[in-house]
Amino acid sequence: MKGVVLAGGKGSRLHPLTKITNKHLLPVFDKPMIYYPIQALVDAGIRDILIVTGGSNAGDFLRLLANGKEFGLSHLDFTYQEGEGGIAEALNLAHHFADGQKLCVILGDNIIEKPIAGAVEAFRAQGQGARILLKEVDDAERFGVAEIEGDRIVGIEEKPARPKSRYAVTGIYMYDETVFEKIKTLVPSGRGELEITDVNNAYIREGTMQFSFLDGWWTDAGTFESLLRACNLVAQSRPETGASE
Ligand code: G1P
Repeated sequence: MKGVVLAGGKGSRLHPLTKITNKHLLPVFDKPMIYYPIQALVDAGIRDILIVTGGSNAGDFLRLLANGKEFGLSHLDFTYQEGEGGIAEALNLAHHFADGQKLCVILGDNIIEKPIAGAVEAFRAQGQGARILLKEVDDAERFGVAEIEGDRIVGIEEKPARPKSRYAVTGIYMYDETVFEKIKTLVPSGRGELEITDVNNAYIREGTMQFSFLDGWWTDAGTFESLLRACNLVAQSRPETGASE
């Protein structure tokens, strides 16, 4: 399985922090934000990784990450997203890189506590389709929200005013090679983007979407509040900082 980190976008919810840099280069405690999703993939045994980014700071990712030595990698792939067409458009840029293999995709602002190796193994064993990771949260209206019936996921709503459950769809998605056919069928949403939720709903309609629950804490870091939370959660998880006392 190959890995993709999506690190484009304008980061407009973090202005002015993102006026002159990319959101995923901002610090989360003692490391640039993008280090965490890369490490999550590496910890899951994925060593073939593509970084999708864009904007005027794209070159900074190459200087920061180079060939991935800090993660024990000997190579990293990079690609450039022109414009701000959404998560699914960014993922479409991984078509050539995927080369028919399954992908584990992670949003560059998603930070997790525990390894996802179990879910990745389950997806390897699953054959065709997709697998998403869900997390129970108190503020589901901020996310894609899964509707579950028994052990089946029957639909996902993107940022619903009245969520049908407390299960947020985290930014960790596993797809087979049909994801690129599904992306071709999408039309831009109200916010003018190709939505990853529409990709996931295409798998749900096809009956090939599975899910796992994410262990440990999870946060995004795309707003001032969630960026602060991400910094605090990472600091508290490092006993040497003393922040956990
Ligand atoms: C995106 C997805 C949403 C998902 C979230 C996870 O939202 O659209 O479904 O729950 O990431 O972080 P965004 O942060 O781009 O608004």
